[in-house]
Amino acid sequence: MSIISKDIFKAVMLLENDDVVAIPTETVYGLAGNIYSAKAIQKIFEVKKRPSFNPLIVHVDSLEKVLTIVSEFPEKAKLLAKAFWPGPLTLILKKNPDIPDTVTAGKDTVAVRIPNHPVTLSLLKQLSFPLAAPSANPFGSISPTKASHVAEYFKKSIEMVLDGGDCENGIESTIIGFEANEPVIYRLGSISIEEITAVIGSLTLKNKQENAPNAPGMLSRHYAPSTKTYLINDVLEFIKNYPDQKIGVLVFSEEIMAPNIEKLVVLSSKKDLKEAASKLYQTLHTLDQLQLDMIVAEVFPNYGLGTSINDRLERATKK
Ligand code: TXA
Ligand code: MG
Repeated sequence: MSIISKDIFKAVMLLENDDVVAIPTETVYGLAGNIYSAKAIQKIFEVKKRPSFNPLIVHVDSLEKVLTIVSEFPEKAKLLAKAFWPGPLTLILKKNPDIPDTVTAGKDTVAVRIPNHPVTLSLLKQLSFPLAAPSANPFGSISPTKASHVAEYFKKSIEMVLDGGDCENGIESTIIGFEANEPVIYRLGSISIEEITAVIGSLTLKNKQENAPNAPGMLSRHYAPSTKTYLINDVLEFIKNYPDQKIGVLVFSEEIMAPNIEKLVVLSSKKDLKEAASKLYQTLHTLDQLQLDMIVAEVFPNYGLGTSINDRLERATKK
């Protein structure tokens, strides 16, 4: 029997009993558990094979609940919360002492967000505790944007994927923290730098540090297909070097043709970066299953969500 189900009540029961459930969000599916259940938190790390030094994002359905989790809320964080919650913004703020160290990997900060998905907002409302949820993929592999992706990854190790359909944004939340009260972007994501600066002015970008102590999850190789993947400016020129290979090609908007292209995916023929972002991971999942010799992705325009897409593609191609 499939572990995919729309039964919110069943999800409530499992979560109240220290189990984990995969939940839909507008960004990607998460693997969720009660932040106060040591058993659930341990299971999240085990199922994902995630190193324990990598902290989890805490999900709640209201600002009142956020205020019970954090001990400080800088002015610029308030502006961002007002502008983007519920939505794909994660804030890293000083934590309240009762937030377990297992969730925050011993840090004095906690990552928190109010996701914008009706099914998960309804679930969170029915629970008396917040949910810790990393993306529902094995450590280092492509994040899931469909219930079926999660089921393929974890059908042997979890009881339930709460089905909320395909994730609308398809790329993770943008993560912002504070250093000496100044805002810092630790992870590019569903909200573009331009949208952030329109609300709080310019800020530092620190998403490129390898093994960055302030964003331990931002390892350089991440979100990776198992097929060898390249990120290239001129795809046609590049694939001329590989006439005998079966190649999967991922481009932004313009169709291209060559005999060795086995599968071409155009992410948005109308040049809409939001549409492209929403299809990125599902396309990588699909291409990864076609037994190709290589995947070649085109470099995206470096503005708006194009910057976030390039960030993920760079990580997918790092060896
Ligand atoms: O869109 C998303 O954010 C999804 C959905 C499920 O909400 N979640 C997600 O979680 O992408 P995850 O665990 O795959 O990525 C969270 C990132 C990791 O890189 C982690 O290191 C970082 O957030 N993080 C969590 N808590 C932190 C903290 N206190 N300080 C610095 N970085 C933190
Ligand atoms: Mg992740």
